[in-house]
Amino acid sequence: MRIDVVSIFPAYLSSLGLSLVGRAARTGLLDLRVHDLRDWTDDRHRTVDDTPFGGGAGMVMRPDVWGAALDDVMRPGPGLPVDAHLLVPTPSGQPFTQRLAERLTDESHLVIACGRYEGIDARVAQHVGAQHPVTELSIGDYVLNGGEAAALVVVEAVVRLLPGVVGNPQSLVEESHGAAGLLEYPVYTKPPVWEGLEVPEVLLSGHHGRVARWRRDQALERTARRRPDLLAALDVAALDRADRAL
Ligand code: ADE
Repeated sequence: MRIDVVSIFPAYLSSLGLSLVGRAARTGLLDLRVHDLRDWTDDRHRTVDDTPFGGGAGMVMRPDVWGAALDDVMRPGPGLPVDAHLLVPTPSGQPFTQRLAERLTDESHLVIACGRYEGIDARVAQHVGAQHPVTELSIGDYVLNGGEAAALVVVEAVVRLLPGVVGNPQSLVEESHGAAGLLEYPVYTKPPVWEGLEVPEVLLSGHHGRVARWRRDQALERTARRRPDLLAALDVAALDRADRAL
């Protein structure tokens, strides 16, 4: 997969060189490039924003600068996939979920446009949308100063799902927001007693069936307490099938 990120703070994205994403880039599973939006300005001050039409506080990012950047970065070229998909992190976007992350793993080229200030002139998404899929997405109901932190979230959530990136694929199956739609059960490691706190006895029993049922119960209880919205959306038939397999 190829991922391009465009930002006025390319250094913000430097942590993508660490950990699993960094290794995926070094081993060739991922072709990751970060660009400075100001490279597409042509004035002495390298201006990327201007005052909003209609008035109001703050500044809006200029369509000509973003248009030039995205035309370049999204253009298919030698070795570049044809069908680039533009992602624009914004608090007014559709919710970024595990399901969306899974769908994005089917893409061969993602381009992430990190806006700052009051956002990017709306014509940029229209302009790119005439040629490419465009998804405006939000990582949660809060407002960040720009799209960079959201881009880090999206890249990590998508890249770890690419084949070969996470060492043990089974760990992708059992986690929160996985196929079962439940939050993950609590986990423990050695020592069996720490600060007077004991690991639940069932986990030391060696009885796989009892362990699986305990984890299922814990996941259900946790989801009911912390995320009743997820519980309401559960696929009960799928849960029943999973239960019969325990
Ligand atoms: N940019 C600013 N806030 C954001 C959010 N919550 N999600 C995605 N991008 C953002």
